[in-house]
Amino acid sequence: MKFKIIFILVFFISNTCNAEEANKGREIAENICSVCHGVNGQANTAGNSVLVPHLTAQNEQYLIEKLKHYKDKTLEHHQMSLIADMLSLEDIKNVAKWYSSIKITVQEIE
Ligand code: HEC
Repeated sequence: MKFKIIFILVFFISNTCNAEEANKGREIAENICSVCHGVNGQANTAGNSVLVPHLTAQNEQYLIEKLKHYKDKTLEHHQMSLIADMLSLEDIKNVAKWYSSIKITVQEIE
């Protein structure tokens, strides 16, 4: 019984933290990323080229790694390297949490 209560509490705390990180990430997405990737990660707002990838529901760790690589210049891109330079490691984790937490449904082609 005691164990159950502790488990629920830990779950609740980690859930609250996740929501907080995702909210901070959403702010970054709105202020910086949305022009190209959209707030929800769909890169189809006006002016976007097909060379801007969608980020919706992408794996969190993948997003973190890519952004770190743009930042440390393992990957160089004229736009993303500049953007990643502006982000702290905490920003990177928060924005990755935001885009990865958006849910999508995949429809199989019959
Ligand atoms: C000026 C437009 C622009 C802005 C603003 C921008 N991006 Fe990008 N982003 C791009 C382009 C273009 C690419 C493709 C780069 C390439 O081909 O290497 C990209 C690639 C990425 C990738 C790699 C995706 C993959 O699958 O390889 C991630 C992750 C990413 N952006 C995250 C972000 C985040 C987070 C922000 C906001 C902090 C942001 N971008 C802001 C244009 C932009």
